[in-house]
Amino acid sequence: MAQASDCAACHTAEDGEDYAGGLTFETPVGEIFSTNITPDTEHGIGNYTLEEYTRVLREGEAADGHNLYPAMPFPSYARLTDDDIKALYAWNMHDVEPSSTPNRESEIPFPLNMRWPMGLWEEIFSPLEPWQDTADKSADWNRGAYLVQGPGHCGSCHTERGLAFQEKALTGDEEGYLGGAMIEGWRAFNLTPDIKDGLGSWSEQDIVTYLSTGNLKGKAQAGGPMADVITHSMRHMTDEDLNAMAVYLKSLPALNGKGEQGEAVNDDDRKAEAAKSSEKQADDKGSQDTPQVATRFNQGAPADDVLLLRGQPLDKRPDDEDLIGQLTEATPGVRLYLGHCAMCHGADGAGTQDGYYPSLFHNSVTGSVYPDNLAQAILNGVQRENNGHSVFMPAFDTSLTDDELINLMDYLENRFGEGHQAKTLATPDTRRQQLSDKLEDWRGE
Ligand code: HEC
Ligand code: HEC
Ligand code: HEC
Repeated sequence: MAQASDCAACHTAEDGEDYAGGLTFETPVGEIFSTNITPDTEHGIGNYTLEEYTRVLREGEAADGHNLYPAMPFPSYARLTDDDIKALYAWNMHDVEPSSTPNRESEIPFPLNMRWPMGLWEEIFSPLEPWQDTADKSADWNRGAYLVQGPGHCGSCHTERGLAFQEKALTGDEEGYLGGAMIEGWRAFNLTPDIKDGLGSWSEQDIVTYLSTGNLKGKAQAGGPMADVITHSMRHMTDEDLNAMAVYLKSLPALNGKGEQGEAVNDDDRKAEAAKSSEKQADDKGSQDTPQVATRFNQGAPADDVLLLRGQPLDKRPDDEDLIGQLTEATPGVRLYLGHCAMCHGADGAGTQDGYYPSLFHNSVTGSVYPDNLAQAILNGVQRENNGHSVFMPAFDTSLTDDELINLMDYLENRFGEGHQAKTLATPDTRRQQLSDKLEDWRGE
């Protein structure tokens, strides 16, 4: 249950002792820090009774009566059953090593640091009751709904938050649940079964494979915050539990890219639209492709730019436009790609056969309308533990200048991804400006 709830993700700092807290959380009003939840009686929660522990998990009220900020996902943990809380308590008090690491005070300025409004917040925005099975649903659905809404707290990243930092929906019965949201500079994608914007083209087994390994060949890999979810939490779950979660996700109402239910998400309409556009393509090209709905998972195509560079040294400064112009047709983006990325992802971007180095076309990150995850993956790399091996892509934050990052992303988007310029008729300059505007966020400055 501790792994399913991923307490470690927020309560274990990178170089800190297990569960000793100290991680920083940005909230709209300032920075706060997770606390020491080891059974140390002075600095940790060693004095918590089971009742107090239950209250802090379900209602966000600490033993001394102060109300926690909802960075601690108690609105989701409110779903935990009595039995699971008992099990968590036993684990927390007996299996976690006590640590004497002191807590850090939040840096939220007065008067916002007064904790009392959080009690009011809790009453308004944290309405979930402990889980009870729905009689007319399958055992899998019930188990999956419990794990997703409760311990897994998937909505704390994948559901949009409102002005008061509350998740707009806590279950599939409310509009917007798991419709996608920004978190720590990443896009936590739409998990509803919409065919275009969500997981409509994934099978239940696809979802299980992704959650247990973080890598679904030809569709998606888990980087950033999701890599941590896989490393600390999901890869430890049984296949039955993961399958139950997939059953539940597949049963949710499909939401479009704006997190809304509406005509745009009618899968039949979309298939008809896709059939029309592929007829048109067939007319244009004289070929007979099967109709395919444009999703995040089928954008882009293999690149052949390497041919342009035959016989050209790759170590030329890629931004030396004049020289490149004289030598080849290659753009700075092509050179950057071939110099920095091709050794792993292949000159054509197809990755390796086994999918260890993923294809960059037909990839949820390059295929997304949000450029954020692409930038984050390039700047921060990817690190994840898999059962049996580690996954590693190096970070390029110090080796690429701002200009180079934009050149590279521009190339990747157009070759392997959404092709924003072609789609929106944005001129190259507008698109570059849009990307440049986000640089500060991505670089974390
Ligand atoms: C998404 C991040 C996140 C996750 C996951 C998380 N916590 Fe927390 N938790 C926090 C933050 C942040 C605080 C401090 C909030 C504050 O100061 O208002 C906190 C505070 C607490 C406290 C209050 C301690 C005290 O008295 O000061 C307890 C107890 C706690 N968490 C237990 C848990 C347990 C048990 C789990 C797993 C079931 C868990 N947390 C999972 C972020 C998280
Ligand atoms: C801490 C934030 C966070 C939590 C909690 C979280 N996710 Fe994610 N998730 C993300 C981010 C960010 C991405 C995008 C990762 C990437 O592009 O590399 C993602 C991606 C995914 C994807 C791939 C979607 C796609 O289209 O590529 C799936 C499936 C997924 N998450 C399922 C879940 C489930 C199920 C849970 C709950 C058990 C969950 N996530 C909890 C942040 C989170
Ligand atoms: C040393 C090998 C290596 C190099 C060099 C490399 N990558 Fe990767 N890349 C990986 C691995 C490994 C993964 C993760 C696979 C997984 O998640 O299972 C990855 C994942 C990705 C992803 C998916 C990230 C996500 O969150 O879904 C993108 C996009 C990507 N790489 C782009 C690039 C770009 C652009 C470059 C050049 C700047 C590059 N890579 C250079 C090995 C590499």
